Amino acid sequence: MTREYLATRVAGLKPSGIRKFFDIVATMQDVISLGIGEPDFTTPAPILQAGIRSLERGATHYTSNAGQIELRRALAEQLKRQYRVEYNPDTELMVTVGVSEALYLAMTALLNPGEEVIVPTPCFVAYQAEVTLAGGVPVELPTYVEDGFQVRPQDLEAAITPRTKAILLSSPNNPTGGVATRQVLLEVARIAEKHDLVVISDELYDQLVYGVEHVCFPALPGMWSRTILLGGFSKNYAMTGWRVGFAAAPAEILRGLLRVHQYTIMSAPTTAQEAALEALRNGAPHVEEMRREYDRRRRLIVPGLNQLGLPTFEPHGAFYAFPHIGATGMDEDTFAQKLLQEEKVAVVPGTAFGPGGEGYVRCSYATAYEKIEEALQRMERFMRRYG
Ligand SMILES: Cc1ncc(COP(=O)(O)O)c(C=O)c1O
Repeated sequence: MTREYLATRVAGLKPSGIRKFFDIVATMQDVISLGIGEPDFTTPAPILQAGIRSLERGATHYTSNAGQIELRRALAEQLKRQYRVEYNPDTELMVTVGVSEALYLAMTALLNPGEEVIVPTPCFVAYQAEVTLAGGVPVELPTYVEDGFQVRPQDLEAAITPRTKAILLSSPNNPTGGVATRQVLLEVARIAEKHDLVVISDELYDQLVYGVEHVCFPALPGMWSRTILLGGFSKNYAMTGWRVGFAAAPAEILRGLLRVHQYTIMSAPTTAQEAALEALRNGAPHVEEMRREYDRRRRLIVPGLNQLGLPTFEPHGAFYAFPHIGATGMDEDTFAQKLLQEEKVAVVPGTAFGPGGEGYVRCSYATAYEKIEEALQRMERFMRRYG
């Protein structure tokens, strides 16, 4: 090959720091993984059954581009009931292949070449890449433990340039487990309004909060008309493999997303849409059961890590703990590699999630309680050597 066949924006993308690490984990025996970013639960039985029934009924065809109308109606009802935010299921809601696709659609539909999106970090590994793939420029905005890993309004305002188009919010947050407070979100809202920014709000973990309120961003005064709300089923309902999520936005914006979706995806998987409908209708008790179990594990892992000399911010959402590993004198890559090699515990280096992740590792507690206990024992041995 004498020339670069790949487009510059693709050739320049860094492989995900998580993947690299898990390729190594996959070759090892007896590893306790606190690395995975997905529920360890299988999808609740009634939801599974709804998918199976739909296949048996022969529902093996495309749906409408925007997704089954019954599912969009059920989504609209749930958003209204839970957050008092209203979307017209005919024109303001669409079903996507997870939030992953919805992010891609939002960026592709919004960004002209060189337009900037402010991305608070640490954040989900795909955010910056999604902006770059769409021809935009991600502007990383580090957040800090002393602020509960929430955006500092003055930093946000300072990051805005004439090219800023949007800000990408994520609450509850992966990897920190932080949940944005109403007060901070109102500040963000004020800034979005002042600078006429679009807000893309990834609320994928909205049902997984522990003792705090989840604020739905478009429900804040004045924000509905400038927000693209992204949500889904992967985490709340333990449905990562089904690949189903949604985007909700004012019709003029949603039309743009739908246009991209129509030519790239056509429609989200039909079986998954049927299962998602069942999840909305009857999934709540199952979500609550899983949420309680995550919370039980959270109350094990957070004090456990703190006792080991790994100061851990108290996460109020998702299923991640984000300990600081400074006491070991190691950087996060070395820490994760040594811990894996010497004690067979897998965690993810914080820098996989962007700046602000230096000195941290992500420990997922979407792992059985007993495994977390064992992982903490292994980590205790490790910390005796290096703490
Ligand atoms: C914050 C966040 N957004 C989006 C995604 C992608 O989720 P989905 O399975 O809906 O594509 C993830 C997955 O880990 C995530 O953590």
